Amino acid sequence: DWTADSFVETTVAELKERIGDDKVVLGLSGGVDSSVAAVLLHHAIGKNLYCIFVDNGLLRKDEYQQVLDSYEHMGLNVRGIDAKQRFYDALAGLTDPEAKRKAIGRVFIEVFDDAAHEVQDVKWLGQGTIYPDVIESLSVKGPSATIKSHHNVGGLPDFMKLKVVEPLNTLFKDEVRRVGKSLGIDQIILGRHPFPGPGLAIRILGEVTPEKIAILQEADSIFINNLRSAGVYDKVWQAGTIFLPVQSVGVMGDERTYENAVALRAVESVDGMTADWCHLPYELLAKISNEIINNVKGINRVVYDISSKPPATIEWE
Ligand code: XMP
Repeated sequence: DWTADSFVETTVAELKERIGDDKVVLGLSGGVDSSVAAVLLHHAIGKNLYCIFVDNGLLRKDEYQQVLDSYEHMGLNVRGIDAKQRFYDALAGLTDPEAKRKAIGRVFIEVFDDAAHEVQDVKWLGQGTIYPDVIESLSVKGPSATIKSHHNVGGLPDFMKLKVVEPLNTLFKDEVRRVGKSLGIDQIILGRHPFPGPGLAIRILGEVTPEKIAILQEADSIFINNLRSAGVYDKVWQAGTIFLPVQSVGVMGDERTYENAVALRAVESVDGMTADWCHLPYELLAKISNEIINNVKGINRVVYDISSKPPATIEWE
């Protein structure tokens, strides 16, 4: 019988045996999988696990600092790297979604490779790969796929030549969450909605600028905080806010405004392959819309996305 406790016990013993006194480097994303993989490895090898958490400037409002704090609180040996400007520079002028994804993947590899080089004599690369990633390894999406698509460009980055350790590669998502719980990881991390690797860059249609990111972060945090306070966050599989490159006329006091619109997206799903839009209560949508329009400078219109997947996708890019 599979139980999370026995999985933790046997996996920690196996990892100790396999890795011995070697050093492991692992990239944390803030998501469930990399967090659980890190804590599991930490139990096995302690300070020989070197975690790297890159601030790409494309995370939700305040999320980088909150997640970094909670990693440190869990005792992980984690290094946070502020690489915001490198990502913004690489994104400047790009409007095509795949070009944006490629630029983000390329900069991530450069930043991670530099940080991994600073760990003397590192032998292993730890990864939070889970079983569905293994079966879908040909998928075009996901951070590991981003790395794969760069294999043939100028040879492998050095960290890709390390031996790979993937302690979760036999588990499904719900099992990963149970293992995380058994390891005492905070529910705030375990219950988090999926979030795409390229982050807010693919939720800003067209060119990404720091100004648009700041506006989107404010609107998105109002949306997410309202889902939490209304008690519906855990019933929604994924939610996010999309910055639309559309300006429309509004009124504010006696003034005519001409500002951008955001779309709210909330879906129910099992695995992200198909999804239905969530029938959120009108009162909740009204509250969110008012709060965004009254508080976020630059937004004067909010729309709700009522498309299901297929034929629409969850993200807009
Ligand atoms: P779509 O938009 O294809 O999204 O319906 C399905 C799921 O995949 C996530 N997604 C991504 N995740 N890199 C990622 O790591 C990406 O480039 C990417 N694009 C979409 C999306 O958030 C949803 O959970």
